[in-house]
Amino acid sequence: MKQTWIADTALMAGSDVELYGWIDVRRDHGKVIFLDVRDRSGICQAVCGPWSGEDVYAQAQKVRGEWVVKITGLVKNRPEHLINKNIPTGAVEIEIKKIEVLNEAQTPPFEISGDGYQIGEDVRLRARYVDLRRARLARNLALRHKVIKYIRDYLDARGFYEVETPIITKSTPEGARDYVVPSRLYAGKFFALPQSPQQYKQLLMAAGVENYFQIARCFRDEDTRGDRQPEFTQMDLEMSFVDREDVMALNEALLIALVGGLFPEKKIQQVPFPRLTYAQAMEKYGTDRPDMREDKEDKNLLAFCWVIDFPFFEKVEQKDAARSGAAAEEWTFTHNPFSAPQAEHMPWLMNKERIGQILTTQYDVALNGFEIGGGSIRNHRPEALKKVFEIMGFSDERIEKNFGHMLAALASGAPPHGGIAWGLDRLLALLLNEPNIREVIAFPKTGDARDLMMDAPSELEEKQLGELHIDVKKEIKHD
Ligand code: AMO
Repeated sequence: MKQTWIADTALMAGSDVELYGWIDVRRDHGKVIFLDVRDRSGICQAVCGPWSGEDVYAQAQKVRGEWVVKITGLVKNRPEHLINKNIPTGAVEIEIKKIEVLNEAQTPPFEISGDGYQIGEDVRLRARYVDLRRARLARNLALRHKVIKYIRDYLDARGFYEVETPIITKSTPEGARDYVVPSRLYAGKFFALPQSPQQYKQLLMAAGVENYFQIARCFRDEDTRGDRQPEFTQMDLEMSFVDREDVMALNEALLIALVGGLFPEKKIQQVPFPRLTYAQAMEKYGTDRPDMREDKEDKNLLAFCWVIDFPFFEKVEQKDAARSGAAAEEWTFTHNPFSAPQAEHMPWLMNKERIGQILTTQYDVALNGFEIGGGSIRNHRPEALKKVFEIMGFSDERIEKNFGHMLAALASGAPPHGGIAWGLDRLLALLLNEPNIREVIAFPKTGDARDLMMDAPSELEEKQLGELHIDVKKEIKHD
């Protein structure tokens, strides 16, 4: 087991230490050899020469960058004029007594020191395990862990249970294409990976869980962008017996506490977060995720805002007609079919009138021009949810087939409920000043939705395809 973190050597002058890590840089000055040794916590300088004994000196001449070593030595204060103010351990160095090589390494495919932004991303992703050794990404992983832990502790203290929901499930109508999983046991049938845990979290409300959250993986087969991955993480949450204000207040308080607790250098521009209606946002900013920063040069300024009062429905023709499965010229939902309309518009929903004017209880939270979350109060009465699908032109048969389980659950005594989901990767990218979400995900997909390191997606063996009852068309169409 590791005895000492390298970062801790800064305060250990006079102590003997055993350091385990990687050779970051080796500098051979003839009679003196410097080895910069790195572990997850940081870097320190170790030094040896002919005076250190033949073995040590020979090993120090042999080791190369990224070799894995155990170094035993004495932590010494450096003379004043040799202090390196650029690193936290710069006031000490390790007088090497022993070097053990734990593993050799091939020359890394790219530089690990430095932030790495200038290195081609394909090259970085192909050897992501090497890329993740760089200090910037190690910090990102550490802070991602801390943010998730902060959220878990905060919600735990407020009576939330984290509940895992299935990954192999049935398609949810979230607006993107599904990733599907063929069934071996049921020829010609498919599971889908969840676009979000939306239906399951509502079923958990029917189950009496009352306050649920989950750090949840979601899957959407849509074009990848800087703020979009095929596989991403939500902080997903649902609460019973609440109204819109309750959900917004809890989430606002959590965001403020999180920033204050883990990112004290950041400044939130306005608290309480300003609220805009969809109409105001579109009129003033031309987008429903406005960038409200007063100073866009300030890297530490966070301008959160809520956007509310979205229209519930829009004509299918305005969007991708295929996505909802409804015929052209019909209505589809703008955000979430499970949302409730605003209370005063419930009669319009029930009578299927003034459809274009019905406003939803949806609330989105935007940060510096990115949508980092969205949610709503749900229709907890089955007859209201059914109207939504009727407005979308679904037959009774189709409603029953696709959503019968939801209607039955709502009819079983479901409490009023509502929730939200944050795009955790997006929030992290903004908090860590990263240009895209790939920088805050350990193993992201490329811009064209591939995993270059694992070489996925890949072909299957004939035998496996046979078991899954799948014939692959020889001529593969790429669009
Ligand atoms: P929505 O679809 O708005 O809502 O998703 C919630 C948040 O998830 C983030 N997000 C993404 N992040 C990375 N890559 C993607 N492909 C991607 N897609 C979405 C966004 C978005 O705000 N079930 C509802 C939530 C609810 O109503 O409770 C839902 O999934 O930041």
